[in-house]
Order: sequence, then C-alpha cells, then structure tokens
Amino acid sequence: MDTFARVSACVRAVQVRAGLQPPTLGLVLGSGLGAFADALTDRVVVPYAELPDFPKSSVQGHAGQLVVGNHHGVRVVAMQGRVHFYEGYAPWQVVLPVRVLCRLGVKALLVTNAAGGINTSFRAGDLMALTDHLNLTGWNPLVGPNDEQAGPRFPDMSHAYDPTLLQVLRGAAKAEGVALKEGVYAGLSGPSYETPAEIRMLRTLGADAVGMSTVGEVIAAAHLGVKVTGISCITNLAAGLSAQKLSHDEVAETANRVKDVFSRLVSRFLDDAAKVL
Ligand code: HPA
Repeated sequence: MDTFARVSACVRAVQVRAGLQPPTLGLVLGSGLGAFADALTDRVVVPYAELPDFPKSSVQGHAGQLVVGNHHGVRVVAMQGRVHFYEGYAPWQVVLPVRVLCRLGVKALLVTNAAGGINTSFRAGDLMALTDHLNLTGWNPLVGPNDEQAGPRFPDMSHAYDPTLLQVLRGAAKAEGVALKEGVYAGLSGPSYETPAEIRMLRTLGADAVGMSTVGEVIAAAHLGVKVTGISCITNLAAGLSAQKLSHDEVAETANRVKDVFSRLVSRFLDDAAKVL
C-alpha cells in the first residue's frame, strides 16, 4: 500500500470516531507536554493502536493517542506523543501521524518538543519559538517517488515556519507575560545526546537548540502546504554547557515544571491563531 492510501485509511478511521468536521488546528505535543490535550472539551480519544499502520511510541512521557476536541469553540486535533526515527521507525512511519492531521483538514500545525539549549542566553525551562530549522537527521521523509496528489517534488522551505503564525505566537507570549525566546532548531537523529564538540559545531552552524524530532514532521507538513509554527521547551542546557550529566529524567522534570506556562501560551496562541486562519 502506498503512503497516500495509508494516510487515507487513518483519516477515515479518525472521522468514524470523531466526525467529519475538519479541525482548524493540529497540535503535536512533545515529551512531557501532552497535558494540554487533557483540557480540551468534547474530547474524542483515539489510541494510536486503533489506527491502521500507526506507529506506537516507546518513549516515556509520550501517551500515544490522538485527541480531537474543542478549545474555546475552536476544533483542534492533538497528537499526545509522537514517534522518533531513533525508535527504529522508517521516515514514512515517523511522519504518518502528522500527514493524518494535515489530511484531516487542519489549516495550521503547532509542533512542540523538548530540546537542549545551545544559545548561552537560554536557561532550562525557557520556551523558544522556532524561527527555522537545520535538518541534520540524515533523512528526509520525501525521499522516494513523489506523491503528486500530496505536493510538489521540490517543496519550498523558505517559510516552513510561517511568519504570520510566528507573529501570533509572539503576541500570545506578550499577552501571557511569557518571555518567549526565539531561535533555530537543529534536528538530529539521536538517540545518544550530543558530545560537547558537536554542540560547539551546532552553535557555529547557527543552531540555538537541539533535539531529536520535529524536522521531518515540518517537512511533511510543508509538502502538504500546511502552515507550521513551533515551540521548543528548553529542558536542559546542551552537552558541555553545564556540569550536570544529561538525562531523560531531567528532560521530563523540566517539561513537567513548565507545563502550566506552556499550556497558557498554547491556549492563547490557539485563541489568536483561530482568528487569522
Ligand atoms: N539534545 C538532544 N535532544 C534533546 C535534548 C538535548 O540536549 N534535550 C531534550 N531533547
């Protein structure tokens, strides 16, 4: 079966459960950031296990379900947890859930993740709006025959992070009193954290934060012509920038500590974005 048919099968399965009305916004909630979807009203929860070909997350802090619901009257669909290339999934599997969100008809996608801070002005617990990314994963979800029904062979990535939505995100942060940082996200495959030398290299390349997700999803969304904006939760200082050893426990702890601020920012962003979409 080709990817288009697989995505179609998942879209139908979600619509059978949640109805045909297209959601306005899609959310990808990363490590420890899934709680936001628990607050949606009229929730319909679809476990990934119930969707054909959907990959199942093996990482702690990733619930592994789609939540369709309303936020202040705006219909949204959220991925509570994602899968990563390092779990052993093929690129098409990593981006299948995002393609399903896009094909459900969302007008925009908010991607979120946990990331290590490379910019020396960042502190653990900061939130960073993604202005752009560096795809250093070594893979691209569009490799292979191009699906002309989905999008062009060579999609433009000049505005992969939509300038208008970034402006909305800045406004939402201001209104909520959140000191939102901004920067370039470097996506690597993982799963080992970076060495201090790699972090120095990434800083030289122009990265402000580093993580193991997101870039493939953003490429898949750009291919489908869906606008994207992104928020990283800086869960730790990147390797070599603090005396502390890097651990997933620290990542999970920080994400948990900022989840209320994160939820306020996302909530205000959804309110404001819905008005311009
Ligand atoms: N490096 C890569 N991925 C991450 C990090 C990091 O320091 N923190 C959270 N995700």
